[in-house]
Amino acid sequence: MANETFLKACRREQTDYTPVWLMRQAGRYMKEYMAIREKHSFIEMCKKPEIACEVTLQPVKAFELDAAIIFADILLPLEGMGINFEFAKNEGPVIRNPVRNRKDIDAVKVINPEADVPYLLEAIKLVKKELNGKVPLIGFSGAPFTLASYIIEGEGSRNYINTKKLMYTDPEGWKILMDKIADVVIVYLQAQAKAGAQVLQLFDSWVGCLGPDDFREYALPYTKRVIDTIKKTTDVPVINFGTNTGTYLNLVKQGGGDVIGVDWKVRLDEAWKTIGYEHSIQGNLDPVVLFSNPATIRKRVKEIIDMAEGRPGHIFNLGHGIILGTPVDNVRAVIDSVHEFSKR
Ligand code: CP3
Repeated sequence: MANETFLKACRREQTDYTPVWLMRQAGRYMKEYMAIREKHSFIEMCKKPEIACEVTLQPVKAFELDAAIIFADILLPLEGMGINFEFAKNEGPVIRNPVRNRKDIDAVKVINPEADVPYLLEAIKLVKKELNGKVPLIGFSGAPFTLASYIIEGEGSRNYINTKKLMYTDPEGWKILMDKIADVVIVYLQAQAKAGAQVLQLFDSWVGCLGPDDFREYALPYTKRVIDTIKKTTDVPVINFGTNTGTYLNLVKQGGGDVIGVDWKVRLDEAWKTIGYEHSIQGNLDPVVLFSNPATIRKRVKEIIDMAEGRPGHIFNLGHGIILGTPVDNVRAVIDSVHEFSKR
């Protein structure tokens, strides 16, 4: 492997500089992406390994990134679970048969990745071949709570009323559903590791809608079982990322993970102190800072690098994904300034 900086930081080993990759680094803010996207739907791009491979590599070619992330979506396992979604025009994906009651829960299937997402595993193999050891490849999955809330709500949600209603009124049904989803996430991640993913990230983008006690009871046990099982059955580092969890990072870390990913609503130094220095930390620039200018970006990047105090195990990232409309030059400014300010 030509560039092991990211893998070393996952293991909290000393590195020559702080590695950086950006959530949603492949996407519509890049003209190379749009050139392909104009001819194919998003889901087509995911399902054609040659296209998924090409798009995965676009940001790695354009910027000095220290990792690639496979081009995919957290909703890809749904089809094999018996849940149908479609991308409505100019909206996000919409589920026509959301899971709302015991009958729906009983019908949810655990996937067989080789049969249900063969295109994803093929794309991972292709990317590995093309990368040829340039940088490591990250595989990922939605975390159980975030997946559950999507399949229960059927679309994005402000208050997660259906999700919490099920949780509070039928805790036993919730457990059955979450156990199935955790089983899906486990086999989905294991298959990605087997296909060649060198690091695995769980995206718990929506779990922060839960207060600490609900997080402990309704989300944590399932994330913990996923991560414990992945750690027992593979040798890849795991990144446990969530948003809006800054007030209970002490609980988040109980879920496990070599690396804990944090958003920008916590200071990186305070977050790391709470999480403990036996974990690596990933984060945490506000993605909206990338709508400012290179001078502001450099200042904000330096503040985060300084908060890590040169301690091994910091992976620079945004606090959540790159937002549509982000200027490409500002993405470059983040990546290059991380390397410049952290050089040891
Ligand atoms: O770093 C990465 O590249 C991770 C890949 C990733 C995508 N979506 C790719 C994607 C991840 C982790 C997600 C997360 C996701 N996807 C969530 C969790 C919430 C979050 O934002 O973290 C949810 C609910 C989805 C489902 C989904 N997929 C939505 C709501 C949308 C439309 C909104 C949007 O931002 O475009 C998608 C499409 C999607 N997923 C795109 C990408 C790159 C855009 C594709 C396109 O239209 O060209």
